[in-house]
Amino acid sequence: MQIGVVKELKENEYRVAIVPSGVVELIRNGHEVYIERDAGLGSGYSDHDYAEAGATIVAKAEDIWGNVDLLYKVKEVFPEEFKYLRDDLIVFAYLHSNAYKEQTAALIASGCTSIAYEDISNDQGEWPLLSPMSELAGKGGFLAALHFAQTINGGSGKLLANVCGVPAPTITIIGCGHSGRGACELAAAFGNRVNMLDINYDAMLAAKEIMPKNVSFVFSNRANLVQCLKESDVILNCILWPKTRKDHLIYREDLKLMKPGAMIIDVACDDAGAVETSRSTSHQDPVYYEEGILHYCVDNIPSAFAQTASITLSNATLPFALAIANKGVRQALKDDKHLRRGLTTYGGKLTLLETAVKLGLEFTSPDELAYEF
Ligand SMILES: NC(=O)c1ccc[n+]([C@@H]2O[C@H](COP(=O)([O-])OP(=O)(O)OC[C@H]3O[C@@H](n4cnc5c(N)ncnc54)[C@H](O)[C@@H]3O)[C@@H](O)[C@H]2O)c1
Repeated sequence: MQIGVVKELKENEYRVAIVPSGVVELIRNGHEVYIERDAGLGSGYSDHDYAEAGATIVAKAEDIWGNVDLLYKVKEVFPEEFKYLRDDLIVFAYLHSNAYKEQTAALIASGCTSIAYEDISNDQGEWPLLSPMSELAGKGGFLAALHFAQTINGGSGKLLANVCGVPAPTITIIGCGHSGRGACELAAAFGNRVNMLDINYDAMLAAKEIMPKNVSFVFSNRANLVQCLKESDVILNCILWPKTRKDHLIYREDLKLMKPGAMIIDVACDDAGAVETSRSTSHQDPVYYEEGILHYCVDNIPSAFAQTASITLSNATLPFALAIANKGVRQALKDDKHLRRGLTTYGGKLTLLETAVKLGLEFTSPDELAYEF
């Protein structure tokens, strides 16, 4: 199969869909890889690195879009790329089709086969192409707290670490999932007193088994949360808050319980989600204050660590890209219900239920389509 990788058009997106080690695997499996000039630069990979891995460097994105079978990218398809969509093209990327209505319409209209990283499942009911980014976001969230706690960055001047003769800071992490555990690993390793909250006992138990002794596990209820709000120097919100929920876990009033200089790092960063006062921010303008409490709500934390993010993303997506390329997309979809879960559009039909419900569009089940493959 001919596989193309283009430079990302999204602002501040420095990741690349595949790193050179992934190119080697695709080539070893008999495929051809075409990569747009400088596509890997933001992640620290030169054209030379890709050429050595066996890829062909192409000057213009349009020459890739126009000629390949599988377009492999990181973020959604942008309006200036809609013209390249065609019915014999496979698009494999984070598509977020319920958020980008215009893109969804273009994908359907073109008849292309599009598969969304974020909707591919696994046997544990998790999202294996999302979780590597969550771990990075959790770790990056702690590093942001470390940065913004510094006096020179307008913070309280507290070093979020165990310093001899000084009481260790208290950090509360809400959610023991992928991002919560990522944050906890760093916060605990720095010697902070860490509280991890969850409503799922098994999630807490699994985290407890791998975390050091300076981490306490506390059931997430109102009384325990209030206690943590009063004691903590940092609250890291790492829970997946259903978009349909109208209530919050931390209300504006609750910010008044927090210590002066304390901060909220909202990794989940849903606008008025678990944290009522949250609204998503960017790396350019990452923080704001509400009721005197610093809020950090950057919605693409992993892009700050583009090389690490590209490596983990490329490793996570490669087995699916290989299955598509080796078997052909129809057979790969037929064989793997988890890949099929990510099927967003096929032959002019919308095949992702959540998007159909959210956008009020007609839905065709990918499982029904699989009978036709
Ligand atoms: N800001 C970014 O750049 C970025 C990057 C990746 C992921 N995210 C977001 O981070 C969020 C978390 O992702 P994840 O992969 O860690 O999720 P996850 O599903 O792995 O973990 C979420 C955890 O929260 C727990 N939880 C649910 N309700 C709770 C409550 N009321 N109190 C305490 N715990 C509760 C769940 O039991 C689960 O253990 C998601 O919204 C995701 O979209 C943000």
